[in-house]
Amino acid sequence: MKIVRGNSIKGTLTVPGDKSISHRGLLLGAVSRGETVLENFLLADDTLATKTALESLGVPMTQKGRTITISGQDWQLTKSKHPLDLKNAGTGLRLLAGILVGQPFSSQLTGDRSLIKRPMKRIVDPLSQMGANITGDTPPLTILPVKSLQPIDYLMPIASAQVKSAIILAALQTPGKTTITEKIKSRNHTEEMVKQFGGDLTVEDQKITVVGGNKLSGTRVKIPNDFSAAAFFLCAASVIPQSQLVLPNVGLSKRRSGFLRILKQMNGLIEIEQNSDKLSGTLIVKASHLKGSHISGQLTVDALDELPLVALAATQAQGSTIVSGASELKHKESNRLHLVATTLNKMGAQITETSDGWQITGPTPLHGAEVDSYGDHRLAMMLFIAGKIATGITHLTNSEAATVSYPDFFSDFNRLEEKS
Ligand code: S3P
Repeated sequence: MKIVRGNSIKGTLTVPGDKSISHRGLLLGAVSRGETVLENFLLADDTLATKTALESLGVPMTQKGRTITISGQDWQLTKSKHPLDLKNAGTGLRLLAGILVGQPFSSQLTGDRSLIKRPMKRIVDPLSQMGANITGDTPPLTILPVKSLQPIDYLMPIASAQVKSAIILAALQTPGKTTITEKIKSRNHTEEMVKQFGGDLTVEDQKITVVGGNKLSGTRVKIPNDFSAAAFFLCAASVIPQSQLVLPNVGLSKRRSGFLRILKQMNGLIEIEQNSDKLSGTLIVKASHLKGSHISGQLTVDALDELPLVALAATQAQGSTIVSGASELKHKESNRLHLVATTLNKMGAQITETSDGWQITGPTPLHGAEVDSYGDHRLAMMLFIAGKIATGITHLTNSEAATVSYPDFFSDFNRLEEKS
C-alpha cells in the first residue's frame, strides 16, 4: 500500500464491535443452555475463525447482519472431524482450549504462521495442573479426554486475560472452587460475562473464585464498539493538526481503556460522555500538542494492545516517554516490542528498545520509508497513521493484515480525511 501525507481528519465514526467481547460471546453462548444473541458482533477474520471452529464442534449459529444467534449446547460439544484452525486468533485458540480440556473427545487446535509460533505453555501448565491432558509448547495443541478435572488455586505468573480466561472456562466445568490470583489485573471481560450468563464467579481484590459444575444460561449481549479500534483514531486525531473526531458507543472498561488515561497524561484533548450504562460512551478528540510521559505497571497492562500507538504518539510529543512493564509485547501477533521500534526508527523516530519497553525521544518528524506489518494487524494500522503524518511516500507491505480485527479501517480513515 502506498501512503501519502494526509490532511486533518474530521467527523463522526462508529468503529466495529469489540473483539474480546465478540469472541467470549461466541464461546460462552456455545456452552450455555438455550439461545444467545450477540448484537453488534465484530465481523472480522479473528472472530469469524472462532465462529467457524465452534460450528465444527456442533454449535449451530445463524447470522443476520451483525447479529449472531447461537443455539447453546450446554457443554455438550461434538468432536470436530478435522483440526480446528483458529487462523490468527490467540484469544480464540487459548479460550477454546479451556473449554475443550473438559470435553469427552480429542481435539487439535492450530493456526496461521503467526499463531503457531505463540507460546502455549502458559495455558498448558495451569490446565495440566487441573488434570487436563493437553500438550504443545506452541500450536498445534493436542487435547485428549480425561475422566475429570480438579479445581486449583493459581497465582498468575504473568498478566494475561487469555490465560486467566482459559482457566475460568475449564473451572466452570470442574466441580469445586477454583481460585485465580492476579498481581497485575488483565482485562476482565470473561469475569463480567460469565456472571451475565449466570455462572458462579466472584471477584474480590486480586482474587477470582469460580465454583464449577453449575449451568450457564444463554442471554442477549449488546457488544459495545471496540476501544482498541477507536484508539487508532484517538491517536491519529491527536497527532494530525486541526483534526476533530466524535466516536460514539465505545466500550470504556477500565481494564481496556488505559490509552485514554495515557493520552490525557500526554496533554491529549479528549472529552468523554458516558452512556447511562457507564460501560460505554462517546469520545470526542481534538488535535493537541502532546508531551512525553512515563507509563508502567497496571497502566501499561490497561493499554496493552494500544502500546504501539503510545509509541507513535510519543514520537510526536515534546520530551521523553518511557514505557516499562511491556515485555508481553514480544509474544503478540508479532514481536511488537522490537518491530515498533525498528519500523518507526526507519521513518525517523528515536526509539530505544529496552528489556520490557521503550525510551522514546520526541518530537521527531517522520519521513516516508518501506515498512512491513509482518502480518500483524495492529502494526499495519499504526504504520498507516505513521505514513499519514510522514513527509514523502510510505510503502506498507502486508497492509491487508488489518482484516484480522478491522476490515474497513483504511476506507473509514479515508472517508474522514478532509479532501484538499
Ligand atoms: C485478549 C487479551 C490480551 C490482548 C489480546 C486480546 C483477550 O492478551 O493482547 O489482543 O481478548 O483476552 P493477554 O492474554 O496478554 O492479556
